[in-house]
Amino acid sequence: DRVNLPTLGELRSRLAPPLWEFLTKASLQAKQRGWHLYLVGGAVRDLLLANPNEPLLIQDIDMVVDGFHSAADVGAGVELAKALQEIYPNTRLEVHGSFQTAALLWRKDPVLGSMWVDIATARTEFYPYPAANPEVEASSIRQDLYRRDFTINALALRLTPPRPGKLMDFFGGLLDLHAKQIRVLHVNSFIEDPTRIYRAVRFAVRLGFTIECQTEEYIRYAIESGVYDRTTKENHKAPALQTRLKAELKHILQASYWKVALQLLGDLGALQCIHPTLKLDDELLRQLRLMERCLQRFDPEQQRFVHWQMRIEAIIAFLKPEYRYLVAKNLQLQDESIRRLQNLASTQEIVLESLPECDRSSQIVKLLRHYDLPMLILIALRSPRKIRQQIWHYATVLANVQPIFNGNDLKKFGYKPGPKYKQILDDLLSATLDGEITNKIEAKEFLTKSYPL
Ligand code: CTP
Repeated sequence: DRVNLPTLGELRSRLAPPLWEFLTKASLQAKQRGWHLYLVGGAVRDLLLANPNEPLLIQDIDMVVDGFHSAADVGAGVELAKALQEIYPNTRLEVHGSFQTAALLWRKDPVLGSMWVDIATARTEFYPYPAANPEVEASSIRQDLYRRDFTINALALRLTPPRPGKLMDFFGGLLDLHAKQIRVLHVNSFIEDPTRIYRAVRFAVRLGFTIECQTEEYIRYAIESGVYDRTTKENHKAPALQTRLKAELKHILQASYWKVALQLLGDLGALQCIHPTLKLDDELLRQLRLMERCLQRFDPEQQRFVHWQMRIEAIIAFLKPEYRYLVAKNLQLQDESIRRLQNLASTQEIVLESLPECDRSSQIVKLLRHYDLPMLILIALRSPRKIRQQIWHYATVLANVQPIFNGNDLKKFGYKPGPKYKQILDDLLSATLDGEITNKIEAKEFLTKSYPL
């Protein structure tokens, strides 16, 4: 019953007052120009699902203007945004000219917090070929909603008179909210935009919904028909698609529900969108579990690493070495991640060959200190237990051992500062690591013997 059509008053009570005030002002500006203004997309969905006792803080707001009388109004969204910026001078205005959309951004506003408002001019999008950037022309709200991903995201709430608060539901979105279903609007939805496969999973898991049967069939059909080819080949026509795929992966892999979502993506075979050979099998799941343990151990506060990136690295590292670089590059991962994935195979070979030869702790340190911790974790994930334990011991214990003396101490003892210091300190460290010296007296004796003054 939480999705029964709320009255205007009820809707108002579900929104923080300053947000309601903003929507009212926006509506007035549109009305004065003879336009209609709608709240659309996720904000409407979340508003309908909201608990009346917990007023919503919406940070992403999408609005659409329509009801024009002349072609000159194609820039209506931009004009409205400019008018609103005069009322809210603390905002930043971004205009995306070719698409006739504008964004107003609040950053840490004392009342509204951080908020991003997109204002679009109602439009129809034609896809000249699948997954390309849409071409845009002014059209009605219905057509604007028709190009959207799921029925629950294709609802609009009219803000302007007549009947402000009227829900525009052309595709059965309200029913699907009731039935807790993710349903696409048309058969080609996933062919047009393969990232919607990831969005379907994300919304299903986040909202506790199911993917409606027919929609699931469309997903499987899109994947079988090789829709992902466009995302995985070195394809300069599809950079926008890669950017969106990365954004969806980030969304999913940084969410608390990432494991469930990944499992569902795996069940649908949707990891093929990352690379045609990628499957979620028991081995990949095991490696991801190990990665989680490492992240918990080495970075529980999430300050050292970007965890979703480490997860995506583990997933890409699961591919054959020859595919890793291109996939990481296409997904526009950070340079550091790309480099790591590119060097993983050769580094792994060195470590797997040399580590079993190391008898002493100092040898292990000398071998492994050339690599950063994320690289060592990636290697550990795919190595036999013995190697993994050695890497673990290095990362948790050996890497933290310091030489008993530092440069200042050497100076006090009378050693002449110079390049030799590095060698002395290194030897001191090795002797400490190998248990030859355990305190300052032994360290001093070691110095006198190995480096007489
Ligand atoms: N949309 C779409 N197809 C996509 C991406 C977005 O149709 N591939 C539409 C949907 O109508 C969506 C709206 O654009 O509701 C806004 O997109 P986005 O901000 O990504 O999603 P939200 O629904 O707002 O979800 P969230 O709450 O996660 O931000």
